[in-house]
Amino acid sequence: KKINIAIDGYSSCGKSTLAKAMAEKLHYIYVDSGAMYRAVTLYFLENKVDLEDDAAVADALDRIDIRFERGPEGIETYLNGRSVESEIREMRVSSMVSPVAAISKVRRAMVRQQQKMGEQRGVVMDGRDIGTVVFPDAELKIFLTADPAERARRRYEELKAKGSSASMEEIKSNLLERDHIDSNREDSPLRQAVDAVVIDNTHLTQEGQLKLALELAES
Ligand code: C5P
Repeated sequence: KKINIAIDGYSSCGKSTLAKAMAEKLHYIYVDSGAMYRAVTLYFLENKVDLEDDAAVADALDRIDIRFERGPEGIETYLNGRSVESEIREMRVSSMVSPVAAISKVRRAMVRQQQKMGEQRGVVMDGRDIGTVVFPDAELKIFLTADPAERARRRYEELKAKGSSASMEEIKSNLLERDHIDSNREDSPLRQAVDAVVIDNTHLTQEGQLKLALELAES
């Protein structure tokens, strides 16, 4: 029997790495909910959508089509038919995404789409509010945490490998800033579900973490 798996936690603590690996092992569909908020942000940036303008935001949301499709390097995020997988990871998007994700119209639209994707079960979705809002009835909920210094180091290595020149300081302050915005709003998306299993992976290898999570999925 297929189940839905929700993986939540702070920025850059390895949610997508774990979620992807679990989906692959279990032959499930992987959905990166953060990529959806990032794609919306990219659209807003490119089309100079005023975040304060309700009508403009609603209108933009109507024009946005986000899909995930398999490309040569794995699943890629498509915004209105174009692959935006690398653009949505750029700093200009990272530094705008939390304010965009804080707009309730944006959240409602994304949550609706995410719930649709989970209707037939067999989905591993990672994000901030998956276990609490998107799939409150997910059979397995994991809340990942890791030391901020370790998270910044991982993100730095990842961005450097992609040729980015972002500094460690810049990355760390962006992470902390996003954590702050994501967890301090009144209707904060980043909350730990009461029935979530917490995994602190500061000192875990990717394999160790995967093994632990698969045991939870099978139990
Ligand atoms: O997961 P990732 O770090 O790529 O997400 C980017 C941003 O999108 C987060 O910092 C957060 O502001 C927002 N987000 C959200 N709810 C989710 C996933 C991401 O608000 N479920």
